[in-house]
Amino acid sequence: MNTFSSKKAPIRVAVTGAAGNIGYALLFRIASGAMFGPNQPVALNLIEIPPGMKALEGVAMELDDCAFPLVTEIVQTDDLSVGFKDVDWALLVGSVPRRQGMERADLLSVNGKVFVGQGKAINDFAKPNVRVLVVGNPCNTNALIAMTSATNIPNEQFFAMTRLDENRAKTQIAQKAGVPVREVSELCVWGNHSPTMYPDFENAKIGRGKATDVILDQAWFRDTFVPTVGQRGKAVIEARGSSSAASAANAVVDTVRDLSTPTRGDIHSVCVISRGEYGTPAGIITSLPIRVDGAGKWRVVEGVKLSEYAKQKIAASNAELLEERSVAFGQLGLSV
Ligand SMILES: NC(=O)c1ccc[n+]([C@@H]2O[C@H](COP(=O)([O-])OP(=O)(O)OC[C@H]3O[C@@H](n4cnc5c(N)ncnc54)[C@H](O)[C@@H]3O)[C@@H](O)[C@H]2O)c1
Repeated sequence: MNTFSSKKAPIRVAVTGAAGNIGYALLFRIASGAMFGPNQPVALNLIEIPPGMKALEGVAMELDDCAFPLVTEIVQTDDLSVGFKDVDWALLVGSVPRRQGMERADLLSVNGKVFVGQGKAINDFAKPNVRVLVVGNPCNTNALIAMTSATNIPNEQFFAMTRLDENRAKTQIAQKAGVPVREVSELCVWGNHSPTMYPDFENAKIGRGKATDVILDQAWFRDTFVPTVGQRGKAVIEARGSSSAASAANAVVDTVRDLSTPTRGDIHSVCVISRGEYGTPAGIITSLPIRVDGAGKWRVVEGVKLSEYAKQKIAASNAELLEERSVAFGQLGLSV
């Protein structure tokens, strides 16, 4: 440990599925300071299931071999009571993938049990102000299950990830308009992290103007842009032979960084507990436009104008979340 990193207490971050594809892209970014800044030490709690422990050893060896000055400790474990002990952030990346012949209900059930266990362990062992970001799919419902199972931790501390969808959407618009991606802002993805999500192009900006005043081909937005963003994960799998990993890890970094620092200018898409904002069903974890204030508290952005088209798309995606909740909670014996 060098002297400058020892001045500050480390932020302890648990990552489940740490030996997986996203884990392999994510851990090195956290360790390098991309998530919490170049002056913030980090302790890493790497969590795997027993078959993943050998590969995890190799990942931890590589982390050691980077000699990252910010890393104060690396814990490797398949024991949740060790893995979530005193963590400030729990990044729940690992989940069971859908295999051939598996119904959606089977996937919800098998992952549901995992997230009940993880929610309880976070409740029992993490710091009371822990924040939890679920990436493993179906991430919204998994986050809801973990939140419901962590009875002493406030619901506002649970999140699921749609930032990858937001980043994908921004790039699609930038490329269509022929502008650098940094020019695109205020592009919120609403609803479920699934192909039903709605990337709200009608409120998106290019520079200071509306994106729809720059890209005049309105049919492109509805007929090409919305389905392209919704199907982008599938397109990456077809091209790469495996699912998005580096871009997903990058979106985890973006999400945690932007939940940890006051928002300047832009808004961001994060799945949070709904209080019924914009007519979304209260009690589900759904993607909404978020800003973080100077005190570090996130809030849903008010006053976004939604067209009838947008309202219908968002309602359809949220209906899917209600259905997922009903199936998963029914199987797990959880009550809403
Ligand atoms: N929300 C998003 O935007 C987004 C984007 C991309 C991928 N994902 C999801 O992220 C998840 C991980 O993707 P990946 O490419 O890293 O998968 P992967 O299969 O490469 O790795 C998953 C890892 O999780 C581990 N694991 C499984 N169950 C676990 C458990 N109960 N506890 C701890 N570890 C466990 C496995 O051993 C494996 O090492 C998948 O569910 C994927 O669908 C989400």
